[in-house]
Amino acid sequence: MTQCGKFITFEGIDGAGKSTHIGFVAEFLASRGKTVVSSREPGGTPLGEKLRDLLLHEKMHLETEALLMFASRREHIAQVIAPALERGDWVLSDRFTDASFAYQSGGRGLDRAKMEALEQWVHPTLQPDLTLLFDVPLAVARQRLDATRTLDKFEREQADFFEKCRNEYLRRAAEHPERIVVVDSTQTIEAIQLRLAEVLEKLL
Ligand code: TYD
Repeated sequence: MTQCGKFITFEGIDGAGKSTHIGFVAEFLASRGKTVVSSREPGGTPLGEKLRDLLLHEKMHLETEALLMFASRREHIAQVIAPALERGDWVLSDRFTDASFAYQSGGRGLDRAKMEALEQWVHPTLQPDLTLLFDVPLAVARQRLDATRTLDKFEREQADFFEKCRNEYLRRAAEHPERIVVVDSTQTIEAIQLRLAEVLEKLL
């Protein structure tokens, strides 16, 4: 694949506030003349959205869950991400493979070697150019979730599940400092946006 555009992913435990900032990043890039494609995982394609509905609401074996996440991702890459990057567009994805490491391996305990095998299979060469990891202590995330929504299957998990997800995210960030930027999401929205602008400036 000849890649000309840039691929940015947004990560963090539920309630870390990433959704608030995706719109800001999209507008920031559009104001710099970039064509932006915003998408999400699981989902991002008609088939992926059907898988999302199953993943967020049905009980299933942990390995089934991991495989469906990657099935949705495979379709997302084929239908949306790869063509957009080839056109030279900027792709913003609300979650990608780091979320599978965080939730299925960190949170639920799926053997990390299996996750690495899936990553190698589904996107052996593609990695985000930038991953923004919105990081907050558990208590803050919980408060935000309870205040704003009806909880899905993942969001109903207990605190120790999210602690393990968060730790796995931070481990991935330490392992891939070349692309993962940890954003302290306890700051005000304005302070976070200043930081995001600074990080994006370097990619432009
Ligand atoms: P989320 O991105 O938080 O969307 P919303 O803001 O609409 O709730 O929801 C997606 C959920 O799916 C989230 O709880 C994390 C989970 N997830 C995984 O467990 N593994 C994955 O690989 C991905 C992409 C998401």
